Amino acid sequence: MSADLKAIASTNGISRIFRSGTREVRALDNVSFSLFEGKTLALVGESGSGKTTAARILLGLDTPSAGSVEILGQTLGTLKNEEMRLLRREIQVVQQDPYSQLNRRHSVQRIIEGPLLAFNIGDKESRKKKVIELLEAVGLEKEHLLRRPHELSGGQCQRVAIARALALNPKIVVLDEAVSALDVSVRAQVLNLLRKLQQERGLTYLFITHDLGVAHYVADEIAVMFRGRIVERGTREDIFKNSQHHYTIGLLASVPLASPQAEKSNQELVQTLPSPAEGDACLYRTRCAVGIDRLDCKSTTLTLTKGTATHSWLCHMPKGS
Ligand SMILES: Nc1ncnc2c1ncn2[C@@H]1O[C@H](COP(=O)(O)OP(=O)(O)OP(=O)(O)O)[C@@H](O)[C@H]1O
Ligand SMILES: [Mg+2]
Repeated sequence: MSADLKAIASTNGISRIFRSGTREVRALDNVSFSLFEGKTLALVGESGSGKTTAARILLGLDTPSAGSVEILGQTLGTLKNEEMRLLRREIQVVQQDPYSQLNRRHSVQRIIEGPLLAFNIGDKESRKKKVIELLEAVGLEKEHLLRRPHELSGGQCQRVAIARALALNPKIVVLDEAVSALDVSVRAQVLNLLRKLQQERGLTYLFITHDLGVAHYVADEIAVMFRGRIVERGTREDIFKNSQHHYTIGLLASVPLASPQAEKSNQELVQTLPSPAEGDACLYRTRCAVGIDRLDCKSTTLTLTKGTATHSWLCHMPKGS
């Protein structure tokens, strides 16, 4: 992104290794990205590519095995509890499942008020006023205040989750597959709402999705993840008009799945996670039409190529070569 934009959060070479018994899996490998104020970075990639792990580390809910995270000039892991608590106000999350992320015993009012209560903000009356403001900002009405999640549609639940995420006026919102569970028409409405809120409030989004169509709609910048690595990154234009990595090209070419059988075979394609023993070789080569038989694609010297100031990729034989 352009140099005059302000990075308000960044991950610097973060890795995350999960250990289970003697087995080690590298869910993230040397992942660096920045969020620029008022802009949207989309993290895209198939299931298991490490998107949620990266988000959890950014949110301070998990700790990287290596690398560091900076948010608003503060380095996670070096902060005192109270400093971390205050920083948490600035970065909020909306998750995929409209129902399970909301406490089903609570009313909409109590759900949206939750963060204000947790930070002891305002009195009963001022909190209620704030809740109504938020409710209106996300396109719901006063009549929804006393409903419980099961009395709302999936789209309405996502609107409540968005209102709750905005209660503390955060600078950054992580949207982890936040529209994936919604019907197509509701999805478009919620995407439009997110866009409007971003413009009105200057929000910065980390938008996680496996759907490049959604990324195209919302993102200023896109980072494509494959098996724990960012394999290509660029502006929306770089990725859609000039993609270089064969995984990105495959994602762009893939058509929506038409049948349950196709869905199943796609699930079977999802690869196991890399182990650290796989080193720095290209992890996509076994699925890559160009690299599968090439010796250099097995090499351990895969390094990031910076094609332009905004566009980079991790591939020995990019499309343009
Ligand atoms: N707590 C954990 N313990 C062990 N392995 C984990 C843990 N959390 C994540 N993983 C592994 O890391 C991999 C990356 O997971 P992650 O949830 O980040 O993927 P994702 O890209 O968000 O996938 P999806 O699109 O399905 O949500 C997963 O395949 C999972 O096996
Ligand atoms: Mg996920």
